[in-house]
Amino acid sequence: AALGARFDCASEAELRAVRALGVPASRTLLANACKRPRDLRAGAELGCPLTTFDSVDELRKVARAWPGARLLLRVRADAPAARCPLGNKYGAEAWEWAALAAEATRLGLPVDGVAFHVGSGAGADAAGAYENAIAVAADAAEVLRAAGHAVSILDIGGGFPGGALGGIAPAINAALEARFPGVEVVAEPGRFFAERIATLATAVFGARERSAGGDARDVDAIATPTVEDPILHPTTRELFVTDGIYGSMNCMLYDHASPLPRALATDDRARGALVPTTVFGPTCDGLDTLVRGHPLPAGLGVGSWLVWPDMGAYTICGASAFNGMDAVNVPRFYVWSVKP
Ligand SMILES: Cc1ncc(COP(=O)(O)O)c(C=O)c1O
Repeated sequence: AALGARFDCASEAELRAVRALGVPASRTLLANACKRPRDLRAGAELGCPLTTFDSVDELRKVARAWPGARLLLRVRADAPAARCPLGNKYGAEAWEWAALAAEATRLGLPVDGVAFHVGSGAGADAAGAYENAIAVAADAAEVLRAAGHAVSILDIGGGFPGGALGGIAPAINAALEARFPGVEVVAEPGRFFAERIATLATAVFGARERSAGGDARDVDAIATPTVEDPILHPTTRELFVTDGIYGSMNCMLYDHASPLPRALATDDRARGALVPTTVFGPTCDGLDTLVRGHPLPAGLGVGSWLVWPDMGAYTICGASAFNGMDAVNVPRFYVWSVKP
């Protein structure tokens, strides 16, 4: 905030969190193409200037609840190898653009530009994915201009890999110069900033040696271990740690991540031979299994620590009020009926 950055928010809670940092609403963008009534009301009340849309319904909602909003048309432009695709949910297809531009005009809503998100973790040939998306956005900008909208902003979303852009930045810059000269460019990097900022440390609070006895089966014979059909190593070293899939390791389910731990080097017990180890999270759910057969020092036990690198985006945020949608402090309504 002190460097003058602007903030992409997904909800009322995120808008208010940014305002609480002292950032003026003029530096926010509500970049959720399908907003709940409370998000629309907060955008209007707080004076957020800009939001995204990709449907006629959203335009009508904005016209009713937030008539002063300026808009960005979110278009679909997927990176084929994205780790978390978003195009299945968001982004208007090319054949919808003209009708959306016309409806915005009819409702008196100015469309100031185009937005896309290629998918989180753009993956292989990310540069090509952004070049393609910028070309798609340029086509959408033409449709908007033809309908009388003054396109002055391009929002290239997120999707950048954690920490290092490599060849992506020059490719994006060249495509922007060619297709969007003089247009203000906005980016919404999430994973890029946050993925590598955190190493998670989990305490080991349980350990055991499990023998599969006569049921032992060859690890490699089971292609995809499941809770019902787990890998049983003849003797398996097992550790229980203080975080799991209902906490930070929800990234295994929602972010398609495969976090791998190592022993904290300062632990004397971390120096022994490596043995295949299964690591469990703390809940009572068998699904709460973090790695199987992972080489860890044989001497680890209760009181040891396992550390997990690159546990910034998207880990603990997904286990809480992700994107500001509170899943814990929900209001409760008790309803009953009385038979006459
Ligand atoms: C609208 C929007 N902007 C930005 C982001 C951040 O994306 P990333 O972490 O891939 O950079 C997301 C993530 O889903 C998003 O939906």
